[in-house]
Amino acid sequence: MIRSIIRGYGAALPKRVMTNQDIEAIVETTDEWIVQRTGIKQRYIAGEGETTSSLGEQAARAALENAGIKPEEIDLIIVATSTPDNTFPATAVNIQNRLGITSGFAFDVQAVCSGFVYAMATADLYIRGGMAKRVLVIGAETFSRILDWTDRTTCVLFGDGAGAVVLEAGEGEGKTSDRGVLTSNLRSDGSHKDKLYVDGGPSTTGTVGHLRMEGREVFKHAVGMITDVIEAAFEATGTTADDLDWLVPHQANRRIIDGSAKKLGIPSEKVVITVDQHGNTSAASIPLALAVAAADGRIKKGDLVMLEAMGGGFTWGAVLLRW
Ligand code: ACO
Repeated sequence: MIRSIIRGYGAALPKRVMTNQDIEAIVETTDEWIVQRTGIKQRYIAGEGETTSSLGEQAARAALENAGIKPEEIDLIIVATSTPDNTFPATAVNIQNRLGITSGFAFDVQAVCSGFVYAMATADLYIRGGMAKRVLVIGAETFSRILDWTDRTTCVLFGDGAGAVVLEAGEGEGKTSDRGVLTSNLRSDGSHKDKLYVDGGPSTTGTVGHLRMEGREVFKHAVGMITDVIEAAFEATGTTADDLDWLVPHQANRRIIDGSAKKLGIPSEKVVITVDQHGNTSAASIPLALAVAAADGRIKKGDLVMLEAMGGGFTWGAVLLRW
């Protein structure tokens, strides 16, 4: 059977680091409050000329180099983002153009913080359906541009960046020992839309708008939703938390990550954490964390890796794969 195997990975961060001390000068907050509630110590903020597509291109080029393939060998680009360059064309098409690719096809996926998980599940279906052989799956965001920098309850949480993987069609025997994506579980429930949303858009206000969030409400639902989809992924594959080598969660908040891992019985040594360095980069956080843990040798070929995320909508989901 066809399996979607990760052949390469890459990441990109803006040049400018913004520490919690830097944020103390912008809104009434403290490093201690931010670290205690979220685990975040710093984040990267896009400067002039740095855009979702420029960061996405940089991450894509790193992933292509890591995979040892040329841009023109890619036949599909999927970009997960909620901060596109423009309403249209899709940021994926902008990145395709930046990479000098004029063949194949490209589109965006919008599922906020769950975007990368949605994009991986989508890419896997295109590969297994035979419509694509090599897919660039990118998570890229410039959330700093939709933050209300006078709202201390949200502006301290987010950062900018991009990560990418190259997924390639390979052969498997239909076993959990196969390399590649083993299962995906996606969920959404729009009845929660008022808890985390952007208060603008082309068909409502005609403005870009700002991110609004009822943090406590999001927190209340996060752990339960995350653990549900992870348990479904274990059940679908006949695996358990003991079989897992790495949990690579969406990096929203240290307390949500720790709470989910504890509930599932996954020891903290198996959890990849980058939220302290990157903040919450929405759809970019998982591929950024994957790139960090693969580059430093933690994630190795053959490891069983669980990706999970929950975000605006609400949307949530998990992808279980063998690296
Ligand atoms: N600095 C200092 N004080 C602050 C700040 C800040 N940046 N922000 C809020 N406060 C104050 C509040 O005004 C409040 O003060 P009060 O008690 O005098 O009214 C107090 O701190 C407590 O505020 P809460 O909102 O209740 O704080 P809470 O403990 O819930 O922490 C947080 C807030 C970190 C946002 C938390 O609710 C959370 O982690 N929620 C999850 C949301 C999340 O991570 N979303 C990311 C996007 S969604 C996703 O990716 C899954």
